[in-house]
Amino acid sequence: MTNDNYKLGEFLLGPGTPEMPFSGVYEGDCRSLLEKIPVETIDLIMTDPPWDNESLPLYEDVALAATRILKPSGFLFMYTGNDNYAWILDICKNSVGLCYFRTFAGIQENSDDMYYKKALFVKWRPILVMTRNPDVRPPYWTPDALKTNRDKRFHQWGQGVEPLERWIRCLTRPGDVVLDPFCGGGATAVSAKTVGRRWLTFEIDHDTAEIARRRIRETQPPLFVMDELVSSEVVPGTMPELPIVFTPEDNYD
Ligand SMILES: C[S@@+](CC[C@H](N)C(=O)[O-])C[C@H]1O[C@@H](n2cnc3c(N)ncnc32)[C@H](O)[C@@H]1O
Repeated sequence: MTNDNYKLGEFLLGPGTPEMPFSGVYEGDCRSLLEKIPVETIDLIMTDPPWDNESLPLYEDVALAATRILKPSGFLFMYTGNDNYAWILDICKNSVGLCYFRTFAGIQENSDDMYYKKALFVKWRPILVMTRNPDVRPPYWTPDALKTNRDKRFHQWGQGVEPLERWIRCLTRPGDVVLDPFCGGGATAVSAKTVGRRWLTFEIDHDTAEIARRRIRETQPPLFVMDELVSSEVVPGTMPELPIVFTPEDNYD
């Protein structure tokens, strides 16, 4: 297992603890690595697991881990496929006992994917967002749909980082910890590092992990992070867009 700490990132974002030395790309099967994460240490699990049928049980493994490692205020944010979405939601909610927060949409405007069996042009992917508690709200106003694009430079199934950065900025605070159990080309880790969040990620394939490490190493953390809620306070992370403050009257729906 490789501990891939970066000194500048450590300086800006804190070293973590001996049990959980943020940040790093850890090699191995996420099912065993997830067990090593201490209880209630993760603010956001953001991931895009493999979607083939044999990999479907992995969604349940991650959801189960979320019940232990997510902080009570945390979010599980999982890309799914349109066809397996209903099954995954049922498992997460009814078997594992997580709370349904919302289905987000990754809109693939320029996608030329075609689903021949059902004569559909595939233009979006559902993202299942779950929490441990029913009354959790994101720290900042969050868009439930964003344009997404594939970025195949680092991985066959690579995600573009722009929407991930935006969602991470909304669903976490500066210095929070973002975990991706399925690293691939490292899009989640790169996004978290870019916006001043601590991160860790797991990858089963050595060559894939190496590509992600190189990419993450070349990603600059921000010089300053301003907490969107306390606009005058400068803390590790990145510059916000508009400061937005929740009031009890705010209503989502
Ligand atoms: C869909 S890709 C993730 C793509 C990534 N989001 C990106 O933007 O590059 C899934 C990744 O999970 C890895 N993987 C599959 N099973 C795994 C397991 N049990 N533990 C850890 N990684 C696994 C695969 O090797 C693959 O790189």
